[in-house]
Amino acid sequence: MTKKTVKDIDVSGKKVLVRCDFNVPQDENLNITDNRRIKGALETIKYLIEHNAKVILCSHLGRPKGEVNNKYSLKPVAEELSKLLEKEVKLASDIIGESAKNLTANMQNGDIVLLENVRFDAREEKNDEEFSKSLASLAEIYVNDAFGTAHRAHSSTAGVASYLPAVSGFLIEKEIKFLGDALQNPERPFVAILGGSKVSDKIAVIDSLLEKVDKLLIGGGMAFTFFKAQGYNIGKSICEVDKLDLANAILEKAKQKNVELVLPSDVHIAKAFSNDAEDKIVATNAIPDEWQGLDIGNNTIESFKTILQDAKTVMWNGPLGVFEFEKYANGTREVAKILSNLDATTIIGGGDSAAAVEQMGLADNMTHISTGGGASLEYLEGKVLPGIECLQNV
Ligand code: 3PG
Repeated sequence: MTKKTVKDIDVSGKKVLVRCDFNVPQDENLNITDNRRIKGALETIKYLIEHNAKVILCSHLGRPKGEVNNKYSLKPVAEELSKLLEKEVKLASDIIGESAKNLTANMQNGDIVLLENVRFDAREEKNDEEFSKSLASLAEIYVNDAFGTAHRAHSSTAGVASYLPAVSGFLIEKEIKFLGDALQNPERPFVAILGGSKVSDKIAVIDSLLEKVDKLLIGGGMAFTFFKAQGYNIGKSICEVDKLDLANAILEKAKQKNVELVLPSDVHIAKAFSNDAEDKIVATNAIPDEWQGLDIGNNTIESFKTILQDAKTVMWNGPLGVFEFEKYANGTREVAKILSNLDATTIIGGGDSAAAVEQMGLADNMTHISTGGGASLEYLEGKVLPGIECLQNV
């Protein structure tokens, strides 16, 4: 179903409540360390300003568990937004209380007010009806642009849509376009790369992708569960022993679906989970006892490269090694480089792989980097996301 966007509705002179995902990482002094999610919301905000709307922004930050906690205040976000927009962004000191009501009552066209962290009220995550109504009463139109939170059925992401005309912002529109097109109508060959430490986190997404892709490349910690399932010695590598049958079932399904599932042929192993421990690269079937695999090896990178060079659509989710350790960031880094040079549609799932690509300065070379971690995974699993479902259809 195609969803209406801000372009399908008259916003001029209206109060528009925009749910953003300003859940940004911060350091111990609360400085924002990655502002991609704030930048991702700018297109919608600017459009609304240019079209004379009164813009009321809201978001969560972290998990304050329904209590006011300054550590999770949106103050740094209001400051960053002001800088990026070169315009004052007033921060209400509450969500639906006196401060929010006063600030939103006296807005001029083009003004921006940011409400405090919606998760300071426990009713937000319960999708409480009264809380949703109170939020809605601040505005005349609801715009959801919080793709990263669209998998949550909360008051500000879904409940509020029952009380106002509800449309999507440009970020959600873009995320649906890239993730949706890749799944429904990919240019082929379509290759997916999955990494990360656990098979259990990715099982639903693997299952869904096996219906769509031509090739599936697997790396990261979860590869070792597959190796163990195939009877290899994996030493002390990470493994989900209760998922061995599942791993075999995935291998079987790949065969049935004619999907080439490629596991690493060699691995970079270490004597301990540390950047400083003794290390070497060995064939997958030659991991000694007491050693553990922390990255893919060079032969694997080469074979992934050969496969990727023919791809026309690539979807990547999850790092291929322990990239927090410089020594074991090689696989993730090399695959990011390969993708950045492909003549293909390259889509990076949110979370760690997006952060890795960003850190390496390769973000501009990718077709699309999702702003959703959990949300992009659930979307790829084929689940209905409540924050999208609640919006008006065209
Ligand atoms: C995210 O960072 O994945 C989103 O902002 C959702 O946050 P949550 O997992 O705390 O709901």
